[in-house]
Amino acid sequence: MKLVRSALAGISILAAYGMLLGVSAFAESDSAAEQKPALQPEPGSPGDTLTREDARMALLVYKLLDKDGKIKGANITRGKELFYQNCRPCHGSDGKRFNFAPYYEPPAFIGQRAREEMPTFWYQMNFGDKERSMAAYIDELELQDLIDIAGFAQTLP
Ligand code: HEC
Repeated sequence: MKLVRSALAGISILAAYGMLLGVSAFAESDSAAEQKPALQPEPGSPGDTLTREDARMALLVYKLLDKDGKIKGANITRGKELFYQNCRPCHGSDGKRFNFAPYYEPPAFIGQRAREEMPTFWYQMNFGDKERSMAAYIDELELQDLIDIAGFAQTLP
């Protein structure tokens, strides 16, 4: 019984608090000059409806690409090491062991795709492509590793 009563008290305190909040929100919206920007949901919170793919791609577009399509904040030396460890076995040290024909005509290689089409490169590296037997690295490497690899890939021929 005691428990029920304190729960009820808790609820009415919450309700009163809610009314206070409601009233102050109302008061605030009166002064148009003080309009606040709409609250954005925290990344990963229930209100955040971006898919993992969308979030990774948005990060690239809004944070990682400069106006010339170059990756910002990449450690190229580290990227080279990581590329050699993870990508070289298939793509070769110059990214030219095999081309991406028949997907692109004329044939395309890692370096050129990274420079000219970073969004495709970024997507393929993060999420892979089962149909084309390219592995997904989003759960294999840290974000900074992927940034470093992407930066290094842009220096390949
Ligand atoms: C087990 C072999 C293998 C490894 C390891 C590998 N790849 Fe691939 N990758 C492939 C294959 C196969 C394709 C598809 C080739 C095709 O479609 O012609 C591919 C395609 C890609 C593409 C798509 C290019 C485009 O523009 O469509 C990118 C980008 C890529 N790989 C980047 C990487 C990076 C970066 C790494 C290292 C983190 C890596 N790959 C490691 C086999 C591999």
